[in-house]
Amino acid sequence: MGIVIASTGKALPEFKLENEQLSKLVDTNSQWIIDRTGIETRHIAIKETGLDLAVKAAEEAMGDMDKDSIELILVATVTPDMLVPSMGALVKKTLGLKNAIAYDINAACSGFIYGLWNAEALMKTHKIKRALIIGVERLTRITNWEDRGTCVLFGDGSGCAVLEHSDSKKGIMSSFVKNYDDVTNCLTVDMQYLNTPFADDEPKEPYIHMNGTQVFRFAVGAIGEVMDAVLQKAGIKADDVKYYVPHQANVRIIQSAAQRIKQPIEKFQVSIRTTGNVSAASIPMALADLMKSGKVRPGDKIMLVGFGGGLSAGAILFEAI
Ligand SMILES: CC(C)(COP(=O)(O)OP(=O)(O)OC[C@H]1O[C@@H](n2cnc3c(N)ncnc32)[C@H](O)[C@@H]1OP(=O)(O)O)[C@@H](O)C(=O)NCCC(=O)NCCS
Repeated sequence: MGIVIASTGKALPEFKLENEQLSKLVDTNSQWIIDRTGIETRHIAIKETGLDLAVKAAEEAMGDMDKDSIELILVATVTPDMLVPSMGALVKKTLGLKNAIAYDINAACSGFIYGLWNAEALMKTHKIKRALIIGVERLTRITNWEDRGTCVLFGDGSGCAVLEHSDSKKGIMSSFVKNYDDVTNCLTVDMQYLNTPFADDEPKEPYIHMNGTQVFRFAVGAIGEVMDAVLQKAGIKADDVKYYVPHQANVRIIQSAAQRIKQPIEKFQVSIRTTGNVSAASIPMALADLMKSGKVRPGDKIMLVGFGGGLSAGAILFEAI
C-alpha cells in the first residue's frame, strides 16, 4: 500500500570539538556560538572515513535484516571519500549487499530529503522491496578553520533510514522538493581540480563560502513554502503533525519554522546542540534521535523538512509504523 520508514540508525565520530576549543582557533566565544546558533559541541572525523560512518549508521538501521533484501542504496553527501566509486557503491561492497543498485545524490543539506523523494518514486515504479537512504558528511574537511563565520557551524556524522514496501501501512503521505537559483552565490564550495599541461586554471579554495544572513533569510522562507506544500498535498493541518524533524543548521531557524507554522517548539526535534550542522546527515541523525527517544507511536504523523545549497529545499510527511 505504501513506502514506510522501517528503521533508522546513526553514527558519530569519536572526537568532540567543544566551543571553547574553537575560541583558540578564531576570534569567537562559546556564548556567542550558543546564542546565535544553539551549538555547544560537534564531532570531527579524525580516524573515521565517511564510509566508516555510513556503514555504521546503515548497520544500526538494518539490525538483523536479510542483506539480500536491500535492493537500492542512495547516499546523500557533498563530501564523498572518493568521486569514483560512489559512496553508494562503497557501502554496497563493504556490507555485501549484492542485490542493491547504489549511487550518490548531491542536493547539499537537502540531500536526505531528495534521497527519500527519489527512493519513494523508484520503489513504487520498480517494485523495490527495501532501500537504504544514507546521509553522510565529513564537512570539517571542507571547512575553512580561519573563517569564524563558518567554522563554528559544521560537524561530521552519518544517519540512515531503511525504507520498505508495506501492503498494509501508508508510510510516506506526501513529499515535495524545490530548487531555487542561488543568484548571489550565497552558499558555495569550489572544486580544486589538478592542472593539465593544456590549461592554467586559477587555484581555488575548496572550502564552504557562505553569506550567513542571506542563507538564513532563504531558509526561513523556503522551509515555510515546503512545509505548506506537503501539508496541502496530504490534506492535513500542521496541528495534525505530531513531530517535526528539521535540518539542524541553526536553532533560530528551527524556532522561526515553528513560529511560521504556528506550532510549539516542543514538537520540533532539536539535535544541533551536540552535532552542529552535518548537512545531508543532519536530518537522518535527528530522525534517529527522535525514533530512539521512545516518544513516537504507530500512526504518528512526522514531517522531515530541509533546505540547503543549490539552493534546494524539501519536505516529506510520513506516518510512523
Ligand atoms: C552564520 C550565522 C550563525 C551568523 O549569525 P548572524 O546573527 O547572522 O550574525 P552576522 O553574520 O550578522 O554577524 C553578526 C556579527 O557577529 C560576528 N561574528 C560572526 N561569526 C562570529 C563568531 N563565530 N564569533 C563571534 N562573532 C562572530 C560578525 O562578524 C558580525 O560582527 P559585526 O557586527 O562586527 O560585523 C547565521 O547567519 C546563520 O546561521 N545563517 C544560516 C547559515 C546556515 O544555515 N548555513 C547552512 C545552510 S544548510
